[in-house]
Amino acid sequence: MNHLKFSYDNALNFVGKQDIFHYQKAIDSHFLAIREHTGKGNEFLGWADLPISVEEALITKIEAAATRFREKSEVSVVVGIGGSYLGARAVIGALSPDFDLLRRRAGNPVMLFAGNNISEDYLTELLQVLDEKDYTITVISKSGTTTEPALAFRLLREHMERKYGKAETKQRIIAITDKEKGALKQLSDKEGYETFVVPDDVGGRYSVLTPVGLLPIAIAGFDIRALLKGAQNMDDFLVTTTKIDENPVATYAAVRNALYAKGKIIEIMVNYEPRLFYFTEWWKQLYGESEGKENKGIFPSGVSNTTDLHSMGQYIQEGLRILFETVLSVEKPKHKLLIPSDEANLDKLNYIAGKRIHEVNRMAELGTTLAHVDGGVPNLKVTIPEISEEMMGEVIYFYEMACAVSGYILGINPFDQPGVEAYKRNMFALLGKPGFEKETETIRRRL
Ligand code: PA5
Repeated sequence: MNHLKFSYDNALNFVGKQDIFHYQKAIDSHFLAIREHTGKGNEFLGWADLPISVEEALITKIEAAATRFREKSEVSVVVGIGGSYLGARAVIGALSPDFDLLRRRAGNPVMLFAGNNISEDYLTELLQVLDEKDYTITVISKSGTTTEPALAFRLLREHMERKYGKAETKQRIIAITDKEKGALKQLSDKEGYETFVVPDDVGGRYSVLTPVGLLPIAIAGFDIRALLKGAQNMDDFLVTTTKIDENPVATYAAVRNALYAKGKIIEIMVNYEPRLFYFTEWWKQLYGESEGKENKGIFPSGVSNTTDLHSMGQYIQEGLRILFETVLSVEKPKHKLLIPSDEANLDKLNYIAGKRIHEVNRMAELGTTLAHVDGGVPNLKVTIPEISEEMMGEVIYFYEMACAVSGYILGINPFDQPGVEAYKRNMFALLGKPGFEKETETIRRRL
């Protein structure tokens, strides 16, 4: 089996092996705490068991709902924000052909996303598109009251009822929410929408292997069984040992914490495949929301190369030396494309004529890594053989587990997000939401 591999040779100029192995004892106990649900935030450790705990009945129900939606949809809209949408968007983005919007894969709806911003223009133009297309909606919100998805869903539901009538709307909306409480659950019961449950013990950013991610991914036409199988492969691999240098999660967690201890406080996830853009966004949320608390944590950021070598490359090469990079490297592309020879050779590219484009991409990756290491930026590498459902499952579970272990090394609870409420309180006060009168007064004085 060709698994994900993790390597850190290009970090060893910056941290010694002793700095890395220093974490071994802590890592052993953190793995145990995760497996036995005894660590901080253990009421949200359900995600760790998902590769084996997702039941056949649930998978079958998701597949049936997806088939029903696929038959009805030219476009399928996924409404959600943060952990309630990024996992699906990451996997769908990674697996969909580039230019999918222009060359719709036969029988597959175009997947659109809403409820992840409050832009009037975005929502207006989405509704204009939906005027002309047959569509379905998957609305995802654990609480059911998050402003962005609630607003978008209110508009979309109204649009859909006008377009199709109430009875057909019922067939075109699926809600994924809490099993018994919250506004969305209440509305779904009242309107008779099909529902799926966000498990109580899985936080939003760890929820991609629950219906939150699995349903949209299945609607988009991808194999959720293979995705789960990939996660299970990684799980099976990780339980065999907790040893640094043998267990890739242990190694990644130890190395990134050793780098952090040396002042490398920003981690940049680097990809060389544009379709991994949203995977980086998913990773940023997972790590940012998990680790950034108690005034500590590595700041997660991302670049898509070689595009960003022409924008962020300068800073990474010569800016403040507080960075390290983790390249998510893909060994094998889906297609083969050779560089043609050109008689005039004005662009001077004939020296690579006959080579694959991927070979040039690989050399760009290698050349960049060496240049950045020479410039003082440690480089880590996660290598996957290809982008497929199974590999996405592996890489998702790898990063989730590494995030939990890393967070425990840092001494924080990687499963809560107390800080995300602050902006909401201000926004509600400014909008005059009932119950926020006191805050409204205080905040108006500051403006
Ligand atoms: O990871 C998280 O917990 C958050 O990003 C939430 O998923 C996000 O805020 C959306 O919350 P809800 O699902 O309640 O609408």
